[in-house]
Amino acid sequence: MNIVHRVKERIRQEGLALALKYAGCASYDTLRCCIRDAAVDFRYSGRLLTNRKTRFSHLGAHDVYHSDYDALNLIFNYCHPIKDDDVLVDVGCGQGRVINYWLSRGLRNSIVGIELDPAIAGQTAAQFARQPNVRIVAGNALEHLPADGTLYYFYNPFAADKVREFAVRLQAAAGVKPRTVLYYNPQSLDAFPEDRWQAEHINFERDLGIKRWGRINKFHELAILTSR
Ligand SMILES: C[S@@+](CC[C@H](N)C(=O)[O-])C[C@H]1O[C@@H](n2cnc3c(N)ncnc32)[C@H](O)[C@@H]1O
Repeated sequence: MNIVHRVKERIRQEGLALALKYAGCASYDTLRCCIRDAAVDFRYSGRLLTNRKTRFSHLGAHDVYHSDYDALNLIFNYCHPIKDDDVLVDVGCGQGRVINYWLSRGLRNSIVGIELDPAIAGQTAAQFARQPNVRIVAGNALEHLPADGTLYYFYNPFAADKVREFAVRLQAAAGVKPRTVLYYNPQSLDAFPEDRWQAEHINFERDLGIKRWGRINKFHELAILTSR
């Protein structure tokens, strides 16, 4: 459906006044997010983080695009607060948006970002070189799961068959502490079987009452998966 058709459809369904209110709220939110994203990206990465096509789709890798800072705030403040002794892992860290968020919170936790694309991993490592608690690993996350990781952020880095392998390897690697995966936009949830993973599902609108612009929210769902 093209934009003109969508606008017409909205006016038909909601009336002109509500449609204009929506357009105003959405425009304001978009502007606010652009300014905030630029400020946080520049503060911690020294550049604006942009989307890129992956060069590794033949390995099941998804493109490089970034989590929304608003979503990260909800996830780590309301859904699953970070404990002082958590070792944080961003599986497929791309250019480091999630790490920026963790640093902006002033966290002292050990942070590991794993990125398949060596060029992107190199840039991301360089931008965090002065952060003593951040380590960027260049390589396939399936082969570089940190032994001490406890809290894994997972925003659809790769295809379903790799997600299944990830779940098996993470479970096999589980040590004394349980491992938790915060799976944002969980497209391959069946990779985490119920007999091995305890799952909690969060829909921000349904469970937290979060609506955007007085109507449907803009966030994906979240699955919180803890190894049994
Ligand atoms: C959707 S982006 C998410 C970026 C970041 N985690 C965020 O939420 O802002 C997925 C990233 O995973 C990386 N990736 C894909 N397959 C990977 C693998 N097997 N190991 C490590 N990183 C991988 C991609 O190159 C890409 O940078």
